[in-house]
Order: sequence, then structure tokens, then C-alpha cells
Amino acid sequence: MTLDQLFRVSGPVALASTLLLAACNQAPAPEATASATAAPPIKPAISFNVLMVKFVDQAADPVWTAAVEPPKTDADWETVEYHATQLAVTGTLMRVGGTGPKDMEWTNSPGWASFTDKMTDGALAAVQAAKAKDVAALQKAGDDIVLNCEGCHREFKLDLPTEGLATHLTRGIITEAPKPGRTE
Ligand code: HEC
Repeated sequence: MTLDQLFRVSGPVALASTLLLAACNQAPAPEATASATAAPPIKPAISFNVLMVKFVDQAADPVWTAAVEPPKTDADWETVEYHATQLAVTGTLMRVGGTGPKDMEWTNSPGWASFTDKMTDGALAAVQAAKAKDVAALQKAGDDIVLNCEGCHREFKLDLPTEGLATHLTRGIITEAPKPGRTE
């Protein structure tokens, strides 16, 4: 049917709406518009060595301490919740990559993501435990977290930190964990 025939059969209103529909179909798809304005790629701000020493370790330590010496006041529980929340985000940051010499190689290794995500999951479980003031759940989350720290360190961490940054916290259990998978 030509436009002329359509006009005669359906009248001007129908024709106008048909034309309008056709025009709409030619408008750019919403996805195309979104990708044209997509945010630029994420640029890591710090190295994993810095992230470990100044974020991960700082956030994890109070969670483990609370599992051993349970908080007494609401404010103490809330502080545990804050630190557990901070730890959860470091797992996400480790998916982004870092500025250290081996960071992108680690980020792109097949086993990496499961360790980062488990750290986030363990930390979120600690958040829930702190909200519920549930010591047993906090201990379970703390154990899950530490096993995962050690697992990732066994697989990826070098004996010496790439930037010479070690922690001032005394978690020997983590930095001195046996490394059966290593061949040096
Ligand atoms: C996804 C893997 C991964 C997880 C999970 C992880 N780490 Fe690390 N960690 C590393 C890597 C890789 C390094 C070495 C960084 C470097 O030297 O550039 C490191 C280094 C460190 C360092 C500094 C270096 C040293 O020898 O002391 C500390 C402290 C540390 N991690 C603590 C922790 C703690 C505490 C946890 C758990 C709450 C944890 N890490 C979980 C990968 C991980």
C-alpha cells in the first residue's frame, strides 16, 4: 500500500501516526545512547601492596579482634560493622587492579576473582554478624576470611612485598603461612 492509498483508506490521522511510528523506529536505540556516554575506564589509584597494608589489614584486624574479645557496647559493635564494611569493599577494589608491578597480571589471573569475591562475601557476613551482635557468626566469618587471605597469599603473594611495604599489625598467621604450592 502506498502512502496515497493509506491516506485514502485510513484518513490523515492514521497516516500521521504511521509516519510518526516510522520516525520513532529510526531514533537511536537507548543502548547506543548509553554507550556513547559511558564512563571512561577505571584507573586504579594505588598498588595492591598499599591496598593490603593500609586498607585490607587495617579493616580485617578489628574484625578478628572482636571475634576473640567480643564487643561490649553498641558503639563497639558498630565499629566492627564499619570495619567489616570497609573490608568488603577492598574485595571489589582488587577486581579493578592496581598500580603495582604485578597487579594487573594478578588481576587477570584465572584464580584471582574467586579469592577477591570470597573476601567480600566473608566481610559482608561479618557485617551481618555485627548488626545482629552474634559472636558465633562473627567467629565463623572471621575464620572464613582468614582462610581466604591465606589461600590467596599461597597462590599469589611473593615472599617479599613488591614495594617493600609490610604491615605493622602482628598477624604472623597470615604473612608467615606455609606456602606448599610454591617452588623456590
Ligand atoms: C585476592 C588475593 C588476596 C587476598 C584475598 C588477600 N591478599 Fe593480602 N596480598 C595479596 C598479594 C598479591 C599481596 C602482595 C602485594 C605486593 O607485594 O605487591 C598481598 C600482600 C599483603 C600484605 C603486605 C605484604 C606482607 O608480606 O606483609 C598484607 C599485610 C596482606 N596482604 C594482608 C592480607 C589480609 C589480612 C588479608 C585478608 C583479610 C589479605 N591480605 C587477603 C593478595 C591477597
